[in-house]
Order: sequence, then structure tokens, then C-alpha cells
Amino acid sequence: MDMDVERSNSPTPAPSSLVAELDTVKKRWWRLRSRARRALPAVCVVAATVLAIVVLSSAGDGWPTLPSNRVSVQDEPPSSNLTADQLLDGLLTAEFSSGSCRSRYEFASYHDKKKRNRPSHKPSPYLLGKLRRHEALQKRCGPGTAPYRAAIRQLKSGDGAVAADADDCRYLVSIPYQGLGNRMLATASAFLYAVLTERAVLIDHDVGALFCEPFPGTTWLHPPSGWFGGGFPLAHLEDYDGDSKESLGNMLKANVLSVGADGNATWSDGGHRPPYVYLHLEGRYDSDDKLFYCDEHQRLLRGAPWLLMKTDSYLVPGLFLVPSFQDELGKMFPEKDAAFHHLGRYLFHPVNDVWRAVTGYYGAHLAGAGQRVGLQIRVFNNKKQKLRHVLDQVLSCVRREKLLLDDPPSKTAASNASVVVDQAVLVTSLTSWYYERISEAYGGDRRVHLHQPSHEGRQKWGDASHNGRALSEMYLLSTCDVLVTTGFSTFGYVAQGLGGLRPWIMPTTPMWLPDTGVVPDPPCVRAISVEPCFHSPSYYDCAARKGVDVSKVLPYVRRCEDVSWGIKIANDSSQW
Ligand SMILES: *[C@@H]1O[C@H](CO)[C@@H](O)[C@H](O)[C@H]1NC(C)=O
Ligand SMILES: *[C@@H]1O[C@H](CO)[C@@H](O)[C@H](O)[C@H]1NC(C)=O
Ligand SMILES: *[C@@H]1O[C@H](CO)[C@@H](O)[C@H](O)[C@H]1NC(C)=O
Ligand SMILES: *[C@@H]1O[C@H](CO)[C@@H](O)[C@H](O)[C@H]1NC(C)=O
Repeated sequence: MDMDVERSNSPTPAPSSLVAELDTVKKRWWRLRSRARRALPAVCVVAATVLAIVVLSSAGDGWPTLPSNRVSVQDEPPSSNLTADQLLDGLLTAEFSSGSCRSRYEFASYHDKKKRNRPSHKPSPYLLGKLRRHEALQKRCGPGTAPYRAAIRQLKSGDGAVAADADDCRYLVSIPYQGLGNRMLATASAFLYAVLTERAVLIDHDVGALFCEPFPGTTWLHPPSGWFGGGFPLAHLEDYDGDSKESLGNMLKANVLSVGADGNATWSDGGHRPPYVYLHLEGRYDSDDKLFYCDEHQRLLRGAPWLLMKTDSYLVPGLFLVPSFQDELGKMFPEKDAAFHHLGRYLFHPVNDVWRAVTGYYGAHLAGAGQRVGLQIRVFNNKKQKLRHVLDQVLSCVRREKLLLDDPPSKTAASNASVVVDQAVLVTSLTSWYYERISEAYGGDRRVHLHQPSHEGRQKWGDASHNGRALSEMYLLSTCDVLVTTGFSTFGYVAQGLGGLRPWIMPTTPMWLPDTGVVPDPPCVRAISVEPCFHSPSYYDCAARKGVDVSKVLPYVRRCEDVSWGIKIANDSSQW
């Protein structure tokens, strides 16, 4: 839901170390590329194909699109001395080496719950078992394997009815879109759906360029299309939309698929059975596409060797509403409101250059503080980024909730005030104006230190170093002890989920409505859980065949604080 805004005219402050660090991200890819070129004679034919794509796709002056360590999956032995903390209580596999991706095993030390006197939320043994089995599935079915080649042949043949081998692999190709926060939520959703339905998940390199591989000994990136028969057979995945004839909704409308009176879904007899089904799950999807959330359609989809899924949303609350998934999800997530906390920390590990920016900035500005407070300020629906009433809302929120040390000293809400002697306040926004005004308001108090890593002026699309900065800010916010976020913002959702933080959410006007120009009352509300909000749920009850209020069906699926038609997972009795 993030949208573009006008470039800010604010003066540029001195480049922060974060910005400088991130400029090395780009260089890294060129290094990687030339290293890969040098290695050419030694690698097999498959790898040579991949390399050729690297060279072709980076021919322009843009960011080379094919990442990474995918040529030689591992060049160092796995670490043998990792602690349970580093492995996030078993969430992470120890099969990777430490050096290839520092963030993977260093994340824990920046989010130490014990040190911060906060309850930790351990993943269930059942979830750990599922993840290890899924890693094995990704390895068995991933790019470069015989089942993958067979599945690609089937995709190219255009016929989905080809007899399937017993151990056939099935695939889910995730097509995330919109801003980086949306893409991460979409990727986590696709991953969970793939685990539930035992499919290998493949993602686009856009997202992959920023993150290390989550699965050992394989890659989750599908090769790019458009390279003489060597790439992925389906091109322009981002162009799939509600009009695509391969969508679940349109196939139902065209009777390629149908659901009988007994509730069983079938492919039409004698009809051509396509090799893949496109799942159109974005904001304005229609009622037929929403049948994705019905059991009978899920049964039908099981038979499709390939699924493409396009979304910009966190679908997980919707998956919890599918009856046939509930048992499994309940075992995986006994604490249901920890779903994204676990999924996000399992899947997302920023590449070394981004991580170096995070840890460098953290060490320089946040580490020494008694308490870290994150203020994430986002303006969606106004050409102007510097809005007096938004500033007033932020100030009014932190004062009302006593989040910053002020004069006279007062109790802060999130911790024992008597032990907080100073605060580092991390401000993130597209302009430095809020940071400057808040500094003026608190500058006199020597216990409050404000920092802003970067400001972009506007959100840029498809710019990898911009995305690298956005990613490092999400991770920096996630290291905070107290978090204030702007409603609607997927960027804030990711930070709160990774950090296990229940933020104060500042309500904001949806971007398609005119800005009210007034400070909402109250200026912020405490989030009911650390879970992201699902912005576009289906309100159709498949069994009853009518619309329902989906926030009333299950006790742990509720309405979001910031998006009145959205739903999120919450549990009043759990401690965050
Ligand atoms: C693990 O072992 C490696 C090599 O022996 C060492 O460099 C690293 O510091 C160790 N890590 C921990 C957490 O002990
Ligand atoms: C419908 O599905 C159920 C369960 O899969 C099966 O037992 C039943 O035979 C099916 N009915 C028809 C008409 O195919
Ligand atoms: C708050 O700090 C005081 C003084 O250090 C300590 O005695 C008390 O136990 C602390 N309370 C909590 C809830 O941590
Ligand atoms: C809610 O949280 C409590 C305490 O952590 C837990 O016992 C309970 O099972 C949770 N309920 C759900 C529905 O997640």
C-alpha cells in the first residue's frame, strides 16, 4: 500500500554512515559478477547458463538483477559452535556457514530478549520439524534438480494433465509487488502457504538480491525468463492481473474449473488443463479470486503442478480462516500471534552489506543507550511530506504515552523508568523535517538523543540501494525497545514483527481520501498484537455461501487498529 510521493526539497544533511555503507552494496554485486565470470570454466553447464543470464541481464547500467551465491551454494563448512540463542531456539538451521551471511546468526544478539527483560517466544517443536522437512523439500525440488527440470518441461508443454510421477514436486512462484515492506509480507505469506501445501516456493530475484538464501543447499530464486529457452518459461510475471485468463477467478468464470453440488471442485472434462493456475490475491480482487480461501478450491489447487501467487499483502490471517489449514497452523503456531515473528526471522536475512550498515549504525548510535525508541513516520496521501499536523500527532503521541524522557522526569511506558537514564530515538521518514522539529522539541534534554539514518525524499521503485536502505531501517527499528509506527505502513509491520514489538500505531488517512489536516484523537493507540494487518481479506464464508464479518469467526482473528476492513491475529492473554 506504500505509494509514491513527491521529492522533498529539504536540505541534505551530511551523509550518514548508513548511506555510505550501502553504496558498497552495488559494488558487491559487480564483484560477485566478475568473480563468477572467472569461475566459469570450472562450473557445470547449468551454472554456465545462469552466468550467461547474469551477464545479459546486467548489460545496462542498472543493478545486475541475478544475485548471488546461487552459483556455488556453499564455500565454507557449516558452523558447529552455534548457540541456541543464535539459532533463535532452533528456528534457523545450523547448516549454513557463518561468514556467508552474517545477519543469519547475528540477528539474535541485536534482539536479546533476556537482556532486555522481555518474554521470549520460542517456536514450537512442531514448527521446527515442519521447517526442516520443508528445507529438505526445497533441496529435492529446487532449481537444478531433475524434478525441477521435469516440472519446467511440463510448464513449457502447456499441458497440466501430463501424468505425474509419484515423487513429483509441485511449485509456488511468488510474485510480490509494491514497496519492500509489502514484498516481504507477501513472501512470508507465500512461504507459509507453500509449507502448508508442500510446495517448493520460488521467488523473484528482486527480493532475493537483498536477502541470503533461507534454505540450505539450494536456491529459492527462479531463474529469470526471457533467456533463449534456458530461463523460466513464463515471462513478465509482474503483468499478471485480474484479467489474466489463467487466474483462478477467470478459470472458474470460464468453467475450466468448477465446483459441483457436492462441494467437490473439478477440472472440466475433456477441457484443456493448464499447467499452472495464477492466484490473483491483490487488493481489488473479485469474488471468484477470493474463492482461494475455500476448502474445496484448495483441494482442487493441490493438483496443479505450478501455482503463481501475486499479492502485496500479509495473507496469513486469511489462511487461518481456511478450515482445512487450521489444525496444522494451530500445531505450528501454538502462539498464533507469533506467526510473522517466527516466519520473518526464519526467512529474512539481509545480505552482508545491508547487515553491515545495520550493525555499524546500531553500534555508533543506538547500542550505548539505556533505551531505544523508534519513530516511524510515513505520509501517504499528500504531495507534501512536511505536515504540521503529522508532526503534532507524533509529539502528541509520545507525550500522551510518556514514551520519551522529558523534563520533569516521568515514567516511561515500556520499561522501568528509574533505570532508563538516556534514550536513543531513531526517526525514520522520507524527509528530515520531522527529525529536525522533534530535535528542537527535545534538544534541550541531554538524555534524549535523536538520530535519522537516511531520508529519501520519495519512495523509489525498483532501486536496489534504496531498498537496501529501507531494509536496514526496518531492521534498525526492530532493535528498538519502544516503537511508534504510522498506520497502514507495511514497513512498520515488518519492523514490529521482526522485533516482537507491540507498537503505538498512529492512525492515518487512507491514501485515496483527502487528508483531514487534523490530529486524530487519540493520536496513537497501542497495537493489540505484533502481527501485521491483512489489508484485503475475503469476507465470504465458503461453507455458508454468504458474506460474514470475518473478524467474528475466530477469537484470535480481529479487526486491525489502523485499517478498519483489515484483520489481524491477536491474543489478549499473550505477553509481548
Ligand atoms: C565459532 O567458531 C569459529 C571458528 O572456530 C569462531 O571464529 C567463532 O567466533 C565461534 N563462534 C562462537 C559464537 O563461539
Ligand atoms: C467428493 O469428495 C469426497 C472427498 O474427497 C469424496 O469422498 C467423494 O467421492 C467426492 N464426490 C464426488 C461426486 O466426486
Ligand atoms: C525497577 O527498578 C527498581 C530500581 O532499580 C527495582 O527495584 C525494581 O525491581 C524495578 N522494577 C521492575 C518491574 O523491573
Ligand atoms: C493465547 O496466549 C496464551 C498465553 O500465551 C496461550 O496459552 C493461548 O493458547 C493463546 N491462544 C491462542 C488462540 O493463541
